[in-house]
Amino acid sequence: MLTGSEIRRKFLDFFVQKGHKEVHSSSLVPANDPTLLFTNAGMNQFKDVFLGLEKRDYSRATTSQKCVRAGGKHNDLENVGFTNRHHTFFEMLGNFSFGDYFKKDAIAYAWELITSPAWFGISKEKLYVTIFKGEGGVARDAEAYELWVAQGVPKNRIYEMGLKDNFWQMGDTGPCGPCSEIHYDMGAIASDQGHTDCEFGCDCGRYVEIWNLVFMQFDRDASGELTPLPKPSIDTGMGLERVTAVLQGVISNYETDLFTPLIRRAADLTLGAGNTGELRSPGQPRAAVPTRAETGSGRVERAHVETAAIGRLAEQSSAGSSTHKLAASLRVIADHSRAATFLISDGLLPSNEGRGYVLRKIIRRAITHGRLLGQMKPFLHQMVFAVRDLMRDAYPELNETADRVTKVVQAEETRFAHTMEVGLEKLETLLKNSPEKLAGEDAFKLYDTFGMPLDFMQDAARDQGIAFDRAGFDQAMEKQRQLAKASWKGAAKQTANPAYQSLPKSEFEGYRQTRSDGCEVLAIIHNGLGVKELKAGEAGEVILDHTPFYAEAGGQVGDRGWLYSDDHNTVIAEVKGCYYPIQGVRAHQVLMRSQQKSPPYEKHVGWATLKVGDRVDAVVNTEMRLWAST
Ligand code: ALA
Repeated sequence: MLTGSEIRRKFLDFFVQKGHKEVHSSSLVPANDPTLLFTNAGMNQFKDVFLGLEKRDYSRATTSQKCVRAGGKHNDLENVGFTNRHHTFFEMLGNFSFGDYFKKDAIAYAWELITSPAWFGISKEKLYVTIFKGEGGVARDAEAYELWVAQGVPKNRIYEMGLKDNFWQMGDTGPCGPCSEIHYDMGAIASDQGHTDCEFGCDCGRYVEIWNLVFMQFDRDASGELTPLPKPSIDTGMGLERVTAVLQGVISNYETDLFTPLIRRAADLTLGAGNTGELRSPGQPRAAVPTRAETGSGRVERAHVETAAIGRLAEQSSAGSSTHKLAASLRVIADHSRAATFLISDGLLPSNEGRGYVLRKIIRRAITHGRLLGQMKPFLHQMVFAVRDLMRDAYPELNETADRVTKVVQAEETRFAHTMEVGLEKLETLLKNSPEKLAGEDAFKLYDTFGMPLDFMQDAARDQGIAFDRAGFDQAMEKQRQLAKASWKGAAKQTANPAYQSLPKSEFEGYRQTRSDGCEVLAIIHNGLGVKELKAGEAGEVILDHTPFYAEAGGQVGDRGWLYSDDHNTVIAEVKGCYYPIQGVRAHQVLMRSQQKSPPYEKHVGWATLKVGDRVDAVVNTEMRLWAST
């Protein structure tokens, strides 16, 4: 049986021998695309190549791409843990053609790879395909239909779907086109609803999409208009976790060897050593379940709140549903550890806005599930090493980043424990002051600010005979979502100062380093205008040809640091922040050192000013990067 790692490798090897260049996964934090929350598909790093804005020295590529779908257009966060196949982090295997081959070869390659006994050897009897039926002004994909028939797929196994299922686009704008999907029949046993004879198209879990072949033909603009791409192209995406489940003969992705070591480790860290192989039997959670502690004053005891959920598990033991919940919690921890590890490894930090907020939610959701399992102490940071050990071969960057990542997670665990404490005091006060009904908006504030779990507040209210305003809570949540969406969109739509318009994109080096030497000053902006130089003591913005500075975007905090002279030891300017005035261009907001106040600086008379064309060393203040937003 192939391991998950071997499947990844085989996919890439197949396309390499078909003339594709193997390209390493890009970062989960899109470097030059403020329209995108996280990298959510293999094609993201090639977006500009599809649009004809960027040229590469290859016209075919293959990747195993790190993806996160936990916000924005493709969002699976709420489903994770409770289904067999949803993840926040997953790996997308893909092959790409940039104006090279089109539908015919894409379909032939896909069919060969999955059905040939020399490769994945999946039984054709278990496969179904879909094509675009034509909708919204785009014609039916008759060509794809004929190509599948030519591969020998029986006509009654080719289904036609509309825009929702068979037209793929990365976001509201950008490259898009009709697609064809390949689905696998997992058998009646995989039906979540106990169906024994449902047909293809049923969404009970039996039929699983394993590969999506997108025939990139259009660019959609902000008004929704479709313009044909310069050259029709191919973008495909196969979920590594799903195809591994198929090839390993298991129903759930979480039962594949991409997850089982993580689930075992999660069990170990939360349920306790000695419980790594099996789940603790229902009704015997590790933490003693304290009696419901309500004093005469209506005070909510911390012990009660923190263990209320596990108490409920114990109460429900007879129904067997607690085993189910334990398993779900372990799956959440396994999934979220992968997402958190890779997001932080790619430079993101937990914060209260945008990307950082989603990361914070992921980490806190994992911690809460640890608490449901009875683990009240920090444990999640240990999962980082389990993720590294499992995935370091495919993503060697984890070897370098794991130590930093574990520190960030631990800091968040400590912070969460503290906010829970503060939040609990607030909850007590609220309950005391709301004799009849706990207002949904107030509860949402606790949820949003302190990460107080919803079911936990519902319980506390119920215990005191106080109603819980669920509708108000949902409304407040929706309002916040809309606000977050608006602020995110706003970031992409800032009108750019003409001074930035014609600048080349800055090459970003900050994933691997926090210092870049010999950076050329491409442009300087002073009081909103392009200038040739900045003098000592002046403030302005500096664009460099390459830089290790993260720019502020979608809640991710921009780096601070310094620009040094290229003799490496004189600070010329302090970098107070970094942002994107336009997509891809990083502006360093600098304050030049004042000549009088910095004696060593005077020796470097050449540096009394910073000029366009000068070379500097750009150095990130790493302490600030690590702690700025935790
Ligand atoms: N970009 C396509 C997807 O994400 C392949 O499904």
